[in-house]
Amino acid sequence: MSRRRDFIPALNREWLTPVYDPLIRWTMRESTFKPRLVQEARIAPGYRVLDLGCGTATLTILIKQMHPESEVTGLDIDARILDVAREKISRAGLDITLDQGPATALSYPDDSFDRILSSLVFHHLRTDDKVRAAREAFRVLRPGGELHVADFGRPHGALMWAVSLVMRHFEEVGDNIAGMLPAIFRGAGFAAVEEEARHATLFGTLVLHRAEKPA
Ligand SMILES: C[S@@+](CC[C@H](N)C(=O)[O-])C[C@H]1O[C@@H](n2cnc3c(N)ncnc32)[C@H](O)[C@@H]1O
Repeated sequence: MSRRRDFIPALNREWLTPVYDPLIRWTMRESTFKPRLVQEARIAPGYRVLDLGCGTATLTILIKQMHPESEVTGLDIDARILDVAREKISRAGLDITLDQGPATALSYPDDSFDRILSSLVFHHLRTDDKVRAAREAFRVLRPGGELHVADFGRPHGALMWAVSLVMRHFEEVGDNIAGMLPAIFRGAGFAAVEEEARHATLFGTLVLHRAEKPA
């Protein structure tokens, strides 16, 4: 009898976790889109920032390095990937909190964060879980707080459209390619939902989204 997994690991198979970092670096233009995502978030000193689905903490570390006076927390559901993250954070000598838990039921009180950033996580969630995660992000952001999400989106250009013909067969990515994320963010209560940038990658169009919890 087949049983659905509770979550999809970083590279879809747990045994691929150790090669996650080099693969993302080479295929996803990570050194371009992650700094851009952090810049777009306009993080001020003292801001409480959550990296939702932090994985190996590459983005989490970047946030803290670019904004040393912010309070940074990384959350992921996968204990194994958090071990990798912990090791990287310790090597970097940074003060970052790591929590384990699902993006769909956050253990933080309402209004806990000024910014939530998330990279390559929503395409791991089934449609109903995308909706739950967006609602949870809305709940734990303070009024006026912002959500910044980098993930696959509607393809731009013929090459990205061709790549999407393969990618759309994965149920969870299909929502992204159909351009559903902005509607899901609006449905959760977010306003000023915008696409801030698009990047062509080996696996398709990567969109940087911004959404604001009304003040
Ligand atoms: C492709 S990786 C992205 C990791 C990291 N954000 C990055 O950009 O490198 C997706 C991550 O989402 C996490 N994830 C999947 N489902 C989740 C859920 N329901 N709640 C929290 N994290 C989840 C996985 O464990 C994995 O670390």
